[in-house]
Amino acid sequence: MRERGKMTLLKLLNFQHILMLSVFTGAANGYYFQTWTQCIYSTHDLSDMELIEGFYFNKYPVIKFNSTVGMFEGFSDLGVKTAELWNNDTAFLQQTKAKVDTYCKPNSQVFEAAIHSKKERPKVKLSSVMPGDSTHPALVKCSAYDFYPQPIKVYWLKDGVEVTSDVTSTEELPNGDWYYQIHTVLEYTPKSAEKISCVVEHASFTRPMIYDWTPPPAPEFEWDIQLLFTIESAALLLGVIIAATGYIYYKIKTSGL
Ligand SMILES: *[C@@H]1O[C@H](CO)[C@@H](O)[C@H](O)[C@H]1NC(C)=O
Ligand SMILES: *[C@@H]1O[C@H](CO)[C@@H](O)[C@H](O)[C@H]1NC(C)=O
Repeated sequence: MRERGKMTLLKLLNFQHILMLSVFTGAANGYYFQTWTQCIYSTHDLSDMELIEGFYFNKYPVIKFNSTVGMFEGFSDLGVKTAELWNNDTAFLQQTKAKVDTYCKPNSQVFEAAIHSKKERPKVKLSSVMPGDSTHPALVKCSAYDFYPQPIKVYWLKDGVEVTSDVTSTEELPNGDWYYQIHTVLEYTPKSAEKISCVVEHASFTRPMIYDWTPPPAPEFEWDIQLLFTIESAALLLGVIIAATGYIYYKIKTSGL
């Protein structure tokens, strides 16, 4: 099982404010001024927190603030002049830089706490990867989707006994939306009356959940071949009988003359 504290996902908290919206009377057109505030981090202690503030007029970026750079950057003539003005305003610049601690970190902590207290049950699905035949073993897959938190245990039972060999599993794979998925494949030789089950243990369950595997019915195609063979053999036998009867009948008739 993967180490719990390791966070591989880059987290992004996005807060959008539409600051100003002016619409001219009767027209569908309008002017949009908007700012985007982004808090980007990838560690649990929030030590690499970065604040990005973007100011846009209609769809054009005018000014951008990047806390790692620590300065405003302007894009249009107006943007460049305004950025210079804002960069000269020490109090305003300090206040914006401080948002990393006053705005980003507290909000991220609230969101982190909300997601960490959350438990989402895995959606478990059993499926056949390979049906298996006289020469190849069967492959059955147990997948658990959309669960949270990350730690999970997924294993196989054969007639109630845990299977430790012939099992291939993935790690808990992040979906990219805070949730995880995991897949495990069991290789087995189908035997009648043998019960195969997938067991899932997760913090969202009060007990281990057992999912029994029902192999799909044998393909009808094979049935047809067998049926065809039976019909063919019967027809051949019937033909032999008819021919023999005809021959005997002919013999009796010719000898009788
Ligand atoms: C912010 O600036 C730093 C330093 O130039 C850079 O590495 C980082 O990618 C920038 N962040 C964004 C989101 O543009
Ligand atoms: C910003 O400060 C610099 C240096 O003090 C000065 O030369 C410049 O004119 C100032 N710009 C604005 C727009 O106030």
